Amino acid sequence: MKTLLSREERSLVAAAARAQKRAYCPYSGYRVGAALLDARGRVFAGCNVENASYSATTCAERVALGSAVAAGARRFRAVAIVTSGRELASPCGVCRQALSEFAPELVVIISDGKRRTERMTLAELLPRQFRCHQVLGKTIH
Ligand code: THU
Repeated sequence: MKTLLSREERSLVAAAARAQKRAYCPYSGYRVGAALLDARGRVFAGCNVENASYSATTCAERVALGSAVAAGARRFRAVAIVTSGRELASPCGVCRQALSEFAPELVVIISDGKRRTERMTLAELLPRQFRCHQVLGKTIH
């Protein structure tokens, strides 16, 4: 499937594709790059970082999110994710939950980095999100 993307979205996919080249994935061989666009137009990229223990592996989306939060970004508009398999892939459940902490309405663009792209929202991927107000009784950002 090919979805029409805006220029900003195309450049976000390009940033994810650049990050994908740096994927550290000697165990799966499955390369993932992610790029998060914040409310100010800044882009934060990440790739998957695997580990011999397997369970210590971090997905590209959470690497990008950690890098963004560490730089002071907390409001996000979109994430682009580029994967290497034959089929397009949407973020895993853990990454959906991690992204929902900061951006419940995030636009999610998945791509093979070439011709195929799809656009969706995090709310579609993760309905009835478990968020801060369930724990605290109020919103915090
Ligand atoms: N992976 C991601 O980076 N993001 C996802 O949303 C799904 C999975 C990575 C983790 C692991 O390095 C490889 O893909 C295979 O699961």
